[in-house]
Amino acid sequence: MSSKTLQYEQVALKGNITVPGDKSISHRSVMFGSIAKGRTTVTGFLLGEDCLSTIDCFKKLGVEIEVDGTNVTIDSPGIDNWMEPKEVLYTGNSGTTTRLMLGILSGTSLHTVMTGDASIGKRPMRRVADPLRLMGAQIAGRENGQYTPLAIQGGPLQAIDYTMPVASAQVKSAILMAGLRAQGTTIVRESEVSRDHTERMLRQFGANVTVKDGVVSFEGGQELTGTHVNVPGDISSAAFFLVAGAITNNSHIVLENVGVNDTRDGILQVLQNMGANMTIEIDDANAAEPTATIIIGTSQLTGTVIEGAIIPRLIDEIPIIALLATQATGKTIIKDAEELKVKETNRIDAVVNELKKLGANIEATDDGMIIEGPTKLAGASLKTYGDHRIGMMGAVAALIADGEVTLDDADCIAVSYPTFFEHLNSLSK
Ligand code: S3P
Repeated sequence: MSSKTLQYEQVALKGNITVPGDKSISHRSVMFGSIAKGRTTVTGFLLGEDCLSTIDCFKKLGVEIEVDGTNVTIDSPGIDNWMEPKEVLYTGNSGTTTRLMLGILSGTSLHTVMTGDASIGKRPMRRVADPLRLMGAQIAGRENGQYTPLAIQGGPLQAIDYTMPVASAQVKSAILMAGLRAQGTTIVRESEVSRDHTERMLRQFGANVTVKDGVVSFEGGQELTGTHVNVPGDISSAAFFLVAGAITNNSHIVLENVGVNDTRDGILQVLQNMGANMTIEIDDANAAEPTATIIIGTSQLTGTVIEGAIIPRLIDEIPIIALLATQATGKTIIKDAEELKVKETNRIDAVVNELKKLGANIEATDDGMIIEGPTKLAGASLKTYGDHRIGMMGAVAALIADGEVTLDDADCIAVSYPTFFEHLNSLSK
């Protein structure tokens, strides 16, 4: 854990960057590539710590995985021939790895134990364990399976028809992963649509999946076939530079190959609603995961209301949107976002505490926050809470703060964006 002090004066951001691969899609490429028998090749893979944790877990299950830069080759004997691991599977800081693997491991014939870091040890797992238990999964863990370490005794599963109590792609995906091995048709009903990378990738690996009016259904027992997956740039990483470009003076940034899947693009709608100076050029709308070049420049912004169905489409971007709102004229209200409380840290508290230290006019609410702008920000010593997105929010705030901003732990940024400071330096003029 190393601290970092940042000081910028009148910085303008100019140039082009290609943000690293999407975290959610990178995880899933290794998961599906490991379930499928044979070879899967991946390009554009994110070498962030979270995705490396996923690779490590599957290697312990006997899957051969070679990483060469951002290219990954997976040679798998198929889920039926995985090895029972002698060691505990360590999922690090990654909620996606822990929750999705719970779904996958439940339908094997193996006994496995999973654990992660201190943050993972506080994140709720029963949202996944409970529906999996309805399918017949045998899961044990602290507080009846709420917290890691989790022990899973894999076995036969039955399909379920499940109505999601929260909008969560991790819960949906864990059920779909288990559904692959279950007898019967698995149905997941969402009232608000969460990211759909699992559904898209199931199709890429040859499965037949139906999605209609927020209902995902598919037949268990379908075999997956190894394939090629191209991972687009992560819009959740691009978001930090979209905001940085909008709030600094004389800036003009071109972000290339950004994934713009419409279950993830809420940040673009918010920027548009706030009046950002931004253009979006779609590359190929028909790709498995569409991408775009996004150009952003210094913007005059106005406050907005962010609530309801858009929340799952920008849940990971709320910390940086809160910073954006400190520079907009008027009030920004963020509601319906209680899920922020169970992310890598409680992100309502973390965002409000840290932006307040910089002088922002921001108050926490039960399900979000209210920000009044514009405010000139001052330097401060900030805590990251070991949360990569809180760390990057602090670093972007440093670009406009009057004085030094110190982050107590900048290393955590490597969870999703190991080259973040390199990219920031390359744009700073
Ligand atoms: C993710 C889903 C989201 C998101 C997380 C990644 C995924 O979590 O916050 O960073 O890859 O499925 P929830 O599904 O719990 O909302």
